[in-house]
Formats: sequence, C-alpha cells, structure tokens
Amino acid sequence: MKEITSRQVEEWNERFSTETPEEMLRFFMQEYGGRLALSSSLGAEDQVLTDMMVGIDPEVRIFTLDTGRLFPETYQLIARTEDHYHIRMEVLFPPADKVEAMVKENGINLFYKSLEQRKLCCHVRKLESLHRAFASLDVWVCGLRKEQSVTRTQVHRVEWDEANGLLKLNPLVDWTEQEVWDYIKRKGVPYNVLHDKGFPSIGCQPCTRAVAPGQDVRAGRWWWENPAQKECGLHVK
Ligand code: ADX
Ligand code: SF4
Repeated sequence: MKEITSRQVEEWNERFSTETPEEMLRFFMQEYGGRLALSSSLGAEDQVLTDMMVGIDPEVRIFTLDTGRLFPETYQLIARTEDHYHIRMEVLFPPADKVEAMVKENGINLFYKSLEQRKLCCHVRKLESLHRAFASLDVWVCGLRKEQSVTRTQVHRVEWDEANGLLKLNPLVDWTEQEVWDYIKRKGVPYNVLHDKGFPSIGCQPCTRAVAPGQDVRAGRWWWENPAQKECGLHVK
C-alpha cells in the first residue's frame, strides 16, 4: 500500500486519543473494509477487540496464527468464539515443509536450547503465516497495551509499521488490565479458561506457564529468558 506519512499518523493519534477504541475502529473499518483485519491470539485483549469489531461489522476479518503448539484450551476458545459471534476466524498454519526441516535439524523442542533457536521457531511457526496474511492487508489491528511489558512502553494507537509496510492499530494501548477484564465481564465475552488458572498472558503451550499472584503478567511467557528479549518478532520496530 501507499506509505502513510508520519504527519497523518500523528494526526490520527491526536484525534483518537480522545475517542473510544470503538470509535477509532469504526473509522478505520469503514475506511479500509476487507483490507483490515484483527490479528488475534485469543488473549483477553484480542477477545475485547473481537467483541467490539464484530459489533461494528459481523463480516470483519479476524485471523489467528496457529503455531501447531497452542494449548487445547485455546483451540476450544476458537470454537467457542466462533459459536458465540456466529463468525469464522481465519486460522493460518505455518508452511509444513519449513516446520519439518526445522524440527529435523533442531529437534521438536528447540526453543529451550538457545535464544536463536527460540526465535527461529517463532519465525517459522508465526511470522511465515503473518507475512502471508499481510499480502491481503493494508491495516492490522493488535491487542498491545503499554502496561504489558518493558518492550511495549513506546507503543502508539496508530503506527506506520515500517518493517511490514502497513498500518498498525493498537486501540487498547492505554487500557489497564482491570479495564480489559471489566469489559469482558460486563459484556459476557468468551475468554480462555486458563486465565482463571493463573495464566494472564497465553502463547504457545511449551513457552507459557502460570504465574504466581502479584507476578508480572508476562512473567510466564518464555520464563527462562531475559524480559528485554521476550518478543516473538511479531511486533518489531
Ligand atoms: S507475543 O508477541 O508476546 O506473542 P502477545 O501474546 O502479548 O504477543 O500478543 C500481543 C498481540 O500480538 C496480540 O494482541 C495479537 O494482536 C498479536 N498476536 C500474538 N500472538 C498471535 C497469534 N498467535 N495470532 C495472531 N495474532 C497474535
Ligand atoms: Fe515456537 Fe515457543 Fe515461539 Fe510458539 S512461542 S512459535 S513454540 S518458540
């Protein structure tokens, strides 16, 4: 797509800083139609966004990157979400040949061996399908919040995603965890049952564990790594 100027991005950020996430989503969904999609990990934030976006347009595109290593509870949530909203999500799989070659060379649980191998696994199992999704998109909507991590304090509502050449929206950027959960409870939004078992942030099963009360929300993700490195490469600047 045509590059959006930083001035335009700034203007949008200013304008939407005083509007609700729904108002912002409505604007961009009308503007970009089928060239806009929610990128959902089925996490609490993404379920809030699903609820808002389906409320605006039941035909809205929602895709999820199925790494093949998700929790059974996450697959159940895909089905529950589809039933609840009468929608079908786009479930994207990684390229079988690349997964097979990676596993053959490095073993099935390579991610525990080194940061490089963990990143390789994320690349093959997530980024390959994400890039495929981008081919039909001008805008991707994500559930990033500033509060989530030391790596996310600089996230904006509207961003020009330079690395991927498209617009990126983070409508919940300023929301607190409490606001996310208030919305879920108030609206009866379906959520992952693991959230009630000590999992505030949920990714792949081998790379996610429960956290103790009071621990950082992302402490259970790639728990053996340094917090500054805990990104899967989806959200590079
Ligand atoms: S991650 O980079 O550490 O995995 P996190 O789980 O916090 O990210 O999710 C942040 C946002 O990235 C989500 O709100 C969602 O927009 C996107 N995302 C993460 N994982 C996936 C996935 N498997 N499929 C689609 N989008 C995802
Ligand atoms: Fe692989 Fe773990 Fe990344 Fe999932 S989170 S793609 S299992 S390294």
